Amino acid sequence: MPPQDQRVILFDTTLRDGEQSPGISLNTAEKLEIAHQLARLGVDVIEAGFPITSPGDFEAVQAISRHVEGPIVAGLARAHSADVEAAWGAVRDATRPRIHTFISTSDIHIEHQLQSTREDVKGSARAAVAHARSLCDDVEFSPMDATRADLEFTAEVVQIAIDEGATTINVPDTVGYTMPDEFRAYLGRLYDLVPGLRDVVLSVHCHDDLGLAVANSFAGVQAGARQVECAVNGIGERAGNASLEELIMLLHTRREAVGFWTDANTHEIARTSRLVSRLTGYPVQPNKAIVGRNAFAHESGIHQDGVLKERTTYEIMDARTVGLDANQIVLGKHSGRHALKQALSELGYELDGAALKTAFARFKDIADKKKHVTAMDLEALVHDELREEVVGYHLEWFDVEASSRRPPHATVAVRTPEGKVVEGSFTGDGPVDAIFRALNAATGLDARLREFRVDAVTGGQDALGETSVVLDVAGQTAAGQGVATDIIEAAARAYVRALSQGVRKAQLAERGAAELQPTP
Ligand code: KIV
Ligand code: ZN
Repeated sequence: MPPQDQRVILFDTTLRDGEQSPGISLNTAEKLEIAHQLARLGVDVIEAGFPITSPGDFEAVQAISRHVEGPIVAGLARAHSADVEAAWGAVRDATRPRIHTFISTSDIHIEHQLQSTREDVKGSARAAVAHARSLCDDVEFSPMDATRADLEFTAEVVQIAIDEGATTINVPDTVGYTMPDEFRAYLGRLYDLVPGLRDVVLSVHCHDDLGLAVANSFAGVQAGARQVECAVNGIGERAGNASLEELIMLLHTRREAVGFWTDANTHEIARTSRLVSRLTGYPVQPNKAIVGRNAFAHESGIHQDGVLKERTTYEIMDARTVGLDANQIVLGKHSGRHALKQALSELGYELDGAALKTAFARFKDIADKKKHVTAMDLEALVHDELREEVVGYHLEWFDVEASSRRPPHATVAVRTPEGKVVEGSFTGDGPVDAIFRALNAATGLDARLREFRVDAVTGGQDALGETSVVLDVAGQTAAGQGVATDIIEAAARAYVRALSQGVRKAQLAERGAAELQPTP
């Protein structure tokens, strides 16, 4: 018998599994910003990171535990004592901390990855859950790769975890292999084999390798799971995790049919999606369900005609429910500091003092070039300013000469973390290439561009340009974003931020190698 309570707990792993996506690397300030927004969205649990993996991860999980009110804050730990200690150290200051520990139960993982035995896995799971429970009342246990594992063996390990006091049992479809009917049957059988499963929360964690992550998560809920693990925009390892916004809106839109619900404030969905896309540098595909640019757009004449007559002819959801078009703020070059502060406050940003002064200067600069500054522009601008590294490189000025008759040439001046202004020049293949290489020349860093993307924040010819770059620099992969009316400037800002991030990551890695205990 599955549980009677129909509320589904939202466990967001954007900052842990999501951050494991290639090229994503968020600093503590960015993670905090996302965590605050997740709290506004109303998720129940934030998996804030994997604290043993680096001092940076530890620091971010600790900061979220200390500063983000509302959700439970979870830290991930392998079934090793050092991991459990690190996870506890990072989450212990949260109002409601959780340790999430895991070990694989599939033979493929046990033999080839862990190079261990089923008996050892049982022993490690027992010790890790007992250890975690001695520190924290809220402990989640995951038998990794469960859907490819022997079900009877997984049931034995789950029983051990429950005996040792795990309060949530999470069943991961680690490699996105299962199918909805199969997963429902799997969980039904797990309930039969482990009667104690009814006394804890059953959770599911589905990956999207076959495009079934949301369908499998929903099948899990139908089978009795009352926690779903998911990530904003569906980011995560490989093809990603179940998409948070799709699960929320599935349960919201079809509530009468399915009977399940979440506590999410759907109106915060679009903003959360934009924030995560912006800070991670991961674009949202235009036709992505719920948050894609075209999710509420109608192209064919017949559809447009229908929607104009009656919205519900071709729309099953109202765009306003997910927070699109929610804000009509428009400022212009005559708007003052007070109007900006008020508009930002309506958008959920309380800026004062130096931060407001900087934002106002940027706003004025943009309003001089762009007639109408919209809510979307302001949001992009605030995030752009928030992203300034405390310690890092800073773009002072640049000159770029572009012509179809001569190779483009760029000169830049950059302030180094030590406060020195250095200059560099380069003649490149195009103006963007020239400025990037000039930035390398100025900083003396041999960075290689891996990805470069330009988007418009809004429509129209005077739209703000938003760029993101991914670089290989100082032995690290680093991402940066920039916003400006001029895309060359936006590109240069993004590049400088990525340089700062790469250098900071290299320093942290060096510190980490010295500080971290080797883990078995
Ligand atoms: O995919 C997976 O199995 C995981 C676990 C750590 C839950 O991310
Ligand atoms: Zn995962």
